[in-house]
Amino acid sequence: MNATDAAGHRPVMLDEVMQGLAIQASGCYVDGTYGGGGHTRALLAALGPHGRLLAIDKDPAAVARARAEFGADARVTVRHGSFAQLGEFVDELGLRGRIAGVLLDLGMSSIQLDDAARGFSFMRAGPLDMRMDTSRGPTAAQWLADASEAQIAQVLREFGEERYARRIAAAIVARRAQAPISTTDELVEVVRQAMPRREQHKHFATRTFQALRIVVNHELDDLAAGLEQALAVLAPGGRLVVLSFHSLEDRPVKQFMRQHAGRFEGASAPPALRLVRAPKKAGPAELAVNPRARSAILRVAERLADAEPAHA
Ligand SMILES: C[S@@+](CC[C@H](N)C(=O)[O-])C[C@H]1O[C@@H](n2cnc3c(N)ncnc32)[C@H](O)[C@@H]1O
Repeated sequence: MNATDAAGHRPVMLDEVMQGLAIQASGCYVDGTYGGGGHTRALLAALGPHGRLLAIDKDPAAVARARAEFGADARVTVRHGSFAQLGEFVDELGLRGRIAGVLLDLGMSSIQLDDAARGFSFMRAGPLDMRMDTSRGPTAAQWLADASEAQIAQVLREFGEERYARRIAAAIVARRAQAPISTTDELVEVVRQAMPRREQHKHFATRTFQALRIVVNHELDDLAAGLEQALAVLAPGGRLVVLSFHSLEDRPVKQFMRQHAGRFEGASAPPALRLVRAPKKAGPAELAVNPRARSAILRVAERLADAEPAHA
């Protein structure tokens, strides 16, 4: 089950995700982040002929892979777009309130990271693109060309938790006054020069790249919308399963689940979710073969039946 799939992305915590989804053979499921299709493939193997699966990805290349592999499977619907549009896609299928499980496996796939032409990796020379959805929106290079110094610093601080945000932002603005920053290695060099020498170790550009990726793909806004949409489409007993890879992703997921499980002081509405188990991390056997699983955190919640309306 854990082999690298043909397209080059090894699905993270596959067994735990499948347990979290508590698959029913005739259930309707949403994979909001198709990627290389590893989770979808396992889900479909567990579904019977009456099961349904909606696979979504922002990345047209992922959508093309999904269509090529599953286009002929009558159980499968593939949609290009954000999981923030999940409600709309589920409505098209007439399945609102009947979804048995939604999976969000956040961030980028190995396929995206390893492709220098996508510009996600500070370790690969390529155009500074970073868009998951290559069909729209500004690239990271365009965003850096247009943003103010204050905006850049804020994004590096908030989405990268970068303590040298102001120095890096100033260096970017100084550099772009001479020539546009259009490649990953140009950006890495600007960041390197802005950092104190003692900080110039191997991964000094990680936080800047993370911040840009988040802003270019409006990842946190989409996550907030996606969680709401997922809750709105789940059937009673349906599962919401989310894999996050850093604290900026995990925090809103944790807060959302706890808030809807009535785990906040002063919670007034009746709970809509039940937390299923404690959050999980990948085990040593998986970490030994998949280093990308090391930061994964899996959270699972279950949709409760709507509370009976109070009698007047
Ligand atoms: C970590 S990978 C998913 C890997 C997949 N579970 C597998 O086993 O191959 C994340 C994928 O989600 C997509 N993605 C990220 N944010 C998204 C969003 N808001 N809406 C739809 N797809 C998104 C990315 O383009 C990427 O292909």
